[in-house]
Amino acid sequence: MNIDIMPWIDLAVRWLHVIAGIAWIGSSFYFVWLDDHLVKGKDMPDGVSGELWAVHGGGFYHNQKYLVAPAKMPAELHWFKYEAYFTWISGLLLLCIVYYYDASIFLIDSSKLTLTPLQAVGIGLTFIAGGWIVYDALCRSRIGDNAPLFGGLWFLVLLGSAYALTHIFSGRGAFIHVGAMIGTAMAANVFFVIIPNQKKVVATMLAGNTPDPRLGKKAKQRSLHNNYMTLPVLLIMVSNHYPMLFGSNANWIVLAALSLAGVMVRHFFNLRHRGKFVWELPAAAAAVFIGTMFFAADVEHRSEPAAVSHARVPFAAVRAIVDRNCVSCHSAAPVHVGILSPPAGLDFTKDEVLEKNASRIRVRTVTTQTMPLGNETHMTAAERATLGAWIDQGAHGEAGR
Ligand code: HEC
Repeated sequence: MNIDIMPWIDLAVRWLHVIAGIAWIGSSFYFVWLDDHLVKGKDMPDGVSGELWAVHGGGFYHNQKYLVAPAKMPAELHWFKYEAYFTWISGLLLLCIVYYYDASIFLIDSSKLTLTPLQAVGIGLTFIAGGWIVYDALCRSRIGDNAPLFGGLWFLVLLGSAYALTHIFSGRGAFIHVGAMIGTAMAANVFFVIIPNQKKVVATMLAGNTPDPRLGKKAKQRSLHNNYMTLPVLLIMVSNHYPMLFGSNANWIVLAALSLAGVMVRHFFNLRHRGKFVWELPAAAAAVFIGTMFFAADVEHRSEPAAVSHARVPFAAVRAIVDRNCVSCHSAAPVHVGILSPPAGLDFTKDEVLEKNASRIRVRTVTTQTMPLGNETHMTAAERATLGAWIDQGAHGEAGR
């Protein structure tokens, strides 16, 4: 028995990443919602700034928020941190398994920059660590007190990184690094600021002193940032399944626009929790989404290679192009290093597989040009145009002639 173990490790880590991520973002959404629904009750105990009643799962819940802290520490206190840590750790592992282990296949795009795997990994990790250093410095500076200004600057930092990364790495390799920069800032916020500050508050209280309210304020600032980063980061994490997002040469604009739409939606919910229904926000987000769709389609359309001629493409020409550019990976027994089984289950040595998957082939080789991976085989514009013409003419194999 011959088992290709990597996809199983990939699956296990991805599963963990999704579970931890749901737990983290789920609890984050819940606490934001909770905070925004707290009301002043009549007989609230000393130190309680707001309370809330809720019904769920067959019982009633009565939450009370103490600001800064209760007079006496409760015997048992629940912390929320491992969701964030496990999301980050599993995310880093996944980055290593998918993008670093096979850097020459998924991360490096020689049509953009010729890099060794080690250089590529070094650049990737530098962006991730550098993102946190810049973010943290901005938060600590006076700019950090001005949330909209801070948000604008951090967005520009990410936009610049997205531009640079999409010109260094493959589209999806670039996207995942922007996602990792945001995710790292979010997890580091929990690890370096939110939890340590909460620990200091608890320690001060146990020593019988009054905690410094600034500690809570700083934690709240980071928590607010995390809240706005959740929807963009989720989009980026699933983006590698959508070549129309990462495939075009305006992919960094697509990424920025959809991330902004995510921030608008998050802002809408934050306001709605506080009783304000600003319908303009989701409407604007939907407009940005649809606008991005047309923009991406237009960019793709303009980058499609022009048809060489309108003559009927003989299947033999298609077979030759596929044999030269695709079957080193896409065959039952791939000869390409690091590829152990036909990617996406597509064995292009079989004519009927080409016919059946014509539209997918068109998307990946003509429209977005995300295949061959990293254009390793230096597939020419004329080859792409010929393949596109064959598909537009009905994609008939030898038998269909
Ligand atoms: C270096 C290896 C390699 C080469 C060469 C290559 N591919 Fe791929 N291809 C992959 C891998 C890996 C995947 C699966 C992951 C992904 O979707 O990127 C894939 C996935 C695909 C998919 C499925 C995408 C989907 O719809 O889910 C199509 C279609 C495809 N390749 C077409 C082609 C065509 C056509 C060529 C030749 C012009 C080609 N590939 C050359 C590695 C390669």
